[in-house]
Amino acid sequence: MKRYEALAETMAAEIRSGGMPVGTRLPSVRHLTTQYGVGQSTVFRAYYLLEEWGLIRARERSGYFVAPGAKLAAAPAPTPAKLADPAEIDVSSLVFSVLEAVKHPGIVPLGSAFPSPQLFPLPRLAKSLAYATRLLNPWSTVVDMPPGNEHLRRQIALRYTGMGIPQRIEEILVTNGAMEALNLCLMAVTQPGDIVAIESPCFYAALQAVERLGLRAVEIPVDPQTGLDLAVLAEALQKHPVRACWFMTSFQNPTGTSLSAEKKKALVELLAEHQVPLIEDDVYGELHFQPDRPLPAKAFDTQGLVMHCTSLSKTLAPGYRLGWVAAGRFTDRVRRLKLMTTISTSIPIQAGIADYLQHGGFDKHLRKLRSALRAQLVVMEQAIEKWLPPGIDYFRPEGGYFLWLRLPEQIDAMQLHRLALEHGINITPGPIFSARHAYQNCVRLNFGHPWSPRIESAMQTLGDLLNRLSGTPSQTPQAATENGKGADVTVMPLRSGGSRQVASTRGTSGSALVRIIACALTGTGLECDGRKISAPRTIRAPVSAHTPARRAIQRCQRWSS
Ligand SMILES: Cc1ncc(COP(=O)(O)O)c(C=O)c1O
Repeated sequence: MKRYEALAETMAAEIRSGGMPVGTRLPSVRHLTTQYGVGQSTVFRAYYLLEEWGLIRARERSGYFVAPGAKLAAAPAPTPAKLADPAEIDVSSLVFSVLEAVKHPGIVPLGSAFPSPQLFPLPRLAKSLAYATRLLNPWSTVVDMPPGNEHLRRQIALRYTGMGIPQRIEEILVTNGAMEALNLCLMAVTQPGDIVAIESPCFYAALQAVERLGLRAVEIPVDPQTGLDLAVLAEALQKHPVRACWFMTSFQNPTGTSLSAEKKKALVELLAEHQVPLIEDDVYGELHFQPDRPLPAKAFDTQGLVMHCTSLSKTLAPGYRLGWVAAGRFTDRVRRLKLMTTISTSIPIQAGIADYLQHGGFDKHLRKLRSALRAQLVVMEQAIEKWLPPGIDYFRPEGGYFLWLRLPEQIDAMQLHRLALEHGINITPGPIFSARHAYQNCVRLNFGHPWSPRIESAMQTLGDLLNRLSGTPSQTPQAATENGKGADVTVMPLRSGGSRQVASTRGTSGSALVRIIACALTGTGLECDGRKISAPRTIRAPVSAHTPARRAIQRCQRWSS
């Protein structure tokens, strides 16, 4: 092992053990060269390696910091990487009860499946709708029946061409949102009792569809960092007569993860080998934070086995219910099913959206939307760092608007969901994304809403609830006396019995507190505000800084335990 690799391994172990929590600034290059007796280039190369592993991140002119999700990057995926037997599914009542709560506009929508309607160009859309309806040919009621309005399908086909994967307009079928497209595709290729492969965790509507159609599901684990486990999928295909797969290949709901282009290609090839159709749910594909849109698996399909389903619900117009599928060799079957179920998608809406796609500036709107979502992600991460207790892991998604948080083991996400609702906050609990009600300690948060004091305060409340559920208050500082200016804080001991008190000065910031408390817990002395403090005993935290103080002490507890 080279010197820089050894140094990177040492630091990685420190990060993975929780010794350096998310957001911790790494020591300076100069400091490390002295500490380890190595050259500057060794330190730099070690840092680059840590960055490549997703453990640290550089901030301009500030140095390197431990990255969000760093612990998870090293931890085993919170999913069983084993193949479980196919099972019937019964999730609907749980999903319905959770979704019911989203409908109330007074609730803070951290559990919503949609971005804020404020981010959509609704007046411009209304203009297109008004214009198109005025010109609507009375015969369009008949002409625009499935596969749908030709003008619209041409605009959609142009978007595929723009991606470099041209589709014939005959293979594009307009539907009522992606949901209808996905359901029709599943119906087109399965019979009751068949086995389908779905993800775990997975978008709950896939579970509901499987349940409704009397199918059995084999769950394929999704790693929050690398996506679907193709080895487990290959095993499932060997072992079971899988009739179809329903997967999200980009910005998966709920994990936000994507398959690399190589993995998408490998997936398509694997399924082609077994002649198994792929129902590809790509509703978030346009919401990428990198410059280029990720290619869907459809791009690698040479046999017409991939049914690419998407919609404008997440990008333009949720209420318009406009989606489509490029259904490859299954086009006729899906089209007939569409006629047999909902007959047609609203004719004026098809015409209005066609006009918007041609003249409304969709790509410009998408650029604005992506940059708003990316900015909101940053603020959400800051709020997590500020308000939520330590021990929460997540991967930073490269698109979409969901964060999949893994909470400490002892937290029950359903209970957190219920308590949050009592405080007017909606979050999506992990168990609704699983046929086995797994992910008990995971939640999905939506960062698709412009930041506001209401959301900030909801994050603070979530932090308080998490502390309550993890029993942290008995371990963390308690405000014993509050005199309007400060509060005495008692820190419970970590290794030995009896209580221990540490001291600080009023007005001390969270990071200074970390140093003071760390020094108290470890019994060493340090300088603070120009004064030598040696093993201080009582802490007086400003009331306004109560939360940083509490977080600081929690961090120190983790260091010293
Ligand atoms: C992953 C995923 N697929 C499909 C849908 C449904 O999309 P639409 O509203 O276009 O029917 C949703 C909506 O929440 C979703 O999250």
